[in-house]
Amino acid sequence: MYHREPPSEQQNPLLPGYPFNAWLVAGLTPINANDQLDFFIDRPLGMKGYILNLTIKGQGRIFDGESAFDCEPGDLLLFQPKTPHYYGRSPDSPCWFHRWVYFRPRAYWTDWLQWQDESQGVGRLRLPEAQRAEFDRLFASIEQTHNSGRRFAEELAMNLLERLLLRAVEEDPRSHQQ
Ligand code: FCB
Repeated sequence: MYHREPPSEQQNPLLPGYPFNAWLVAGLTPINANDQLDFFIDRPLGMKGYILNLTIKGQGRIFDGESAFDCEPGDLLLFQPKTPHYYGRSPDSPCWFHRWVYFRPRAYWTDWLQWQDESQGVGRLRLPEAQRAEFDRLFASIEQTHNSGRRFAEELAMNLLERLLLRAVEEDPRSHQQ
């Protein structure tokens, strides 16, 4: 008799098949033309949680056909749950580096998750040049804190994420009119 291992799940969130069943997962996806990560992320049914996506280098292409658009450094996107994900390096750019956070929100965050500029389930915000470094650092500290092994790692990461969401609404030029 031998024991058969169950099929192992993908351990790397940058590769297809990773089960996103946590409250929060954060990372940086560095796509260079023709490398291992140079494929289109394709989740036709979307995800259970939200995704924040910040381009830090190069250009990404979101969707295809009529709804396609490109994103550039400083562009912050918010994918609603169940919104299809289809994105990758823009064919016009040699690379696309983007930071991201996948999360299941706290109930009282709801108001900050409906951005003024939203179409097809994707909110968009172009960060002013002067604010980009701050957002880049926030994304990086969410990832670091979450992986730190500290006792309250997840709570502290959610705490930083809450700040990121608030800062995003604050930067949204149209939210001032409300
Ligand atoms: C990674 C992608 C990233 C984001 C997370 C959830 O594989 O590179 O853009 O979609 O999954």
